[in-house]
Amino acid sequence: MYQAIEDNLKGMEIGILVNNVGMLVFFNPTRFLDMPNIDKAIMDTISCNMLSLVQMTRIVLPQMVERKKGLVINLSSEAGSRPYPMGILYSSSKGFVDFFSRGLHAEYKSLGITVQCVMPLFVSTDMTQNMKTNIFVKSANDYARDALNTVGYTNRTSGCLSHALQSYALDLLLPGPVFEFLFSLKILANFFKRPQKKDEKNKKK
Ligand SMILES: NC(=O)c1ccc[n+]([C@@H]2O[C@H](COP(=O)([O-])OP(=O)(O)OC[C@H]3O[C@@H](n4cnc5c(N)ncnc54)[C@H](OP(=O)(O)O)[C@@H]3O)[C@@H](O)[C@H]2O)c1
Repeated sequence: MYQAIEDNLKGMEIGILVNNVGMLVFFNPTRFLDMPNIDKAIMDTISCNMLSLVQMTRIVLPQMVERKKGLVINLSSEAGSRPYPMGILYSSSKGFVDFFSRGLHAEYKSLGITVQCVMPLFVSTDMTQNMKTNIFVKSANDYARDALNTVGYTNRTSGCLSHALQSYALDLLLPGPVFEFLFSLKILANFFKRPQKKDEKNKKK
């Protein structure tokens, strides 16, 4: 598939690459081995959240480097900033995006390429079952506008003020070890639980 994409993009001048594609196989907190269809969940998560981003970067970056100009925006997640027990497959894949982006930025900054890693909390989309927007949950349009306004100012961002404050509060109130401990007591896992439409769909597949 990537060879076909590469062939079709040949000769095109691409200034901005947004690696947005991503999937969350189970929205509800699920222990690793309890995921139904675990083999498929692993392969889907890795190929969708990680492999696609690396391959698209390999394909598009060379002509940016040649012109000494380009912007790559990679969608990670707050879930990639620390391990999220009961969601480790998604969380780890987004951690990969964060590390890859930061490393890539360091490697190519001097060659005129900006790499930005965007790490949202909750945005109302299909992935989050179009949850109601409020001061914590942004609409997709509002979030995209705010996040794009940060381009050129920061190469690693929560994308908007509300999410930056939530991320800061999480770090302050629930540092990594406390967060993981609360998950092990199932306190946080229950907090994140939601009525399940999407997971039921995945179980049936
Ligand atoms: N929404 C949030 O709260 C949130 C929070 C943190 C990070 N993120 C990240 O933000 C990015 C965008 O997510 P979103 O909320 O907009 O999710 P979404 O509504 O589910 O959209 C995901 C996008 O990825 C595409 N996609 C998913 N699985 C695919 C597959 N197997 N093959 C090809 N395309 C596939 C979808 O294509 P189709 O439209 O064709 O289905 C869609 O364009 C993702 O990387 C996600 O991890 C989202």
